[in-house]
Amino acid sequence: MTLRVLSVFGTRPEAIKMAPLVLALQKSTDFDSQVCVTGQHREMLDQVLTLFKIIPDYDLALMKPGQDLFDVTAAAIVGMRDVLVSAKPDIVLVHGDTTTCLAAALAAFYHAIPVAHIEAGLRTGDLSAPFPEELNRSLVAKIASHHFAPTESARQNLLNEGIDDAAISVTGNTVIDALLMTRDSINKTFSGVYWRKQLGDGVYGCLDDTTRRTILITAHRRENFGQGFDNICRAISQLAEQHSDWDFVYPVHLNPNVRNPVNILLGQYTNVHLIEPLDYKTFVWLMDKSELVITDSGGIQEEAPSLGKPVLVMRDVTERPEAVAAGTVRLVGTEIESIVNEVELVMENADIYRRMATAINPYGDGHSVERILNQLKQGASLALQVCA
Ligand code: UD1
Ligand code: UDP
Repeated sequence: MTLRVLSVFGTRPEAIKMAPLVLALQKSTDFDSQVCVTGQHREMLDQVLTLFKIIPDYDLALMKPGQDLFDVTAAAIVGMRDVLVSAKPDIVLVHGDTTTCLAAALAAFYHAIPVAHIEAGLRTGDLSAPFPEELNRSLVAKIASHHFAPTESARQNLLNEGIDDAAISVTGNTVIDALLMTRDSINKTFSGVYWRKQLGDGVYGCLDDTTRRTILITAHRRENFGQGFDNICRAISQLAEQHSDWDFVYPVHLNPNVRNPVNILLGQYTNVHLIEPLDYKTFVWLMDKSELVITDSGGIQEEAPSLGKPVLVMRDVTERPEAVAAGTVRLVGTEIESIVNEVELVMENADIYRRMATAINPYGDGHSVERILNQLKQGASLALQVCA
């Protein structure tokens, strides 16, 4: 029996992490695969769809400039109501902790359609950080009939919440599948001329200059808006002023709550390069060329260790303790002094740098999709669970 699977996602990171799974579902004769994007993101989602050549069967196209949580949640639930009627899936796959993930799971639940949750079980234990993602993923755990946990500690979090062990599979994170696929295609296909075109002469020139070194920056978390972002920008400006032989390359998220302070506070430094969000393969190439990464992103904490890059995370808590334990990620908070001190330590201390850069990636081996597909092949039994 072929299982009718509807994969739902809406933002850049979900798309990157779902892409290798969608491609594998499309290829397999065991599944009838459909894709619905909510369009919670637009340009940043489309960059990923184009790269992986995924054409959605449904697109709710819900993004509005400056949308809030109410806008996205309401539009996604109502939009999913009708998509589910038309697509008639046996099972809905959702990913992670975005509003799209929660709304799609809730809509499936209202239609009594089973849900499987990819990247299940991440927790900080603090509903305010990340906000609203910690609540989203906790609620989806209540709804899902199967939980694909990336790590053993994510599985443990689910067990602690009373989820049945039989409903959990530890698979690794599909982001490593996406990263390795992308890195392989980069190594085979693209030249310096191509990267210069993608990144522009300024940034490419810095990367090409052996006397200069690069720090890659991203930041977008909602709980950092306001004072947190102000601090992050001031820390970066201090680092840029004090280290004129380093370049700080920052592809700025399209959220206006991010762009406004970043442009105002960092626009005037010649060694701070504010650029548009990059398509995934260019971003992976840039990460590979950088010395280290400063970020508040979730996915980058999982990817950078595979490329041997130390990651300094501008947050107070992380739901990804494995990389901290492995020594490749350090939490540096959002205070100016702590960010500057911790970044300088890694910039200047070769021993610390080497220890962080050589840790083993705890998030996967690039075979997570295979493990998820094998579980889904027993889908008939999964599919019956939620409706009972
Ligand atoms: C969302 C997710 C967050 C995830 C992040 C990844 C929620 C609540 N938040 O946050 O978990 O880590 O995506 O990046 O689900 N915008 C564009 N074009 C785009 C994307 C965004 O213009 O392609 C702008 C729009 O003005 C939009 C705003 O960014 O209204 C905010 O987008 P939204 O998805 O609501 O929040 P993010 O901060 O991106
Ligand atoms: N990324 C990208 N282009 C960029 C910045 C990031 O493709 O300009 C990728 C990055 O490699 C990672 C994902 O986007 O896979 C992370 O997305 P984001 O930080 O927006 O969200 P989070 O992971 O925090 O939910």
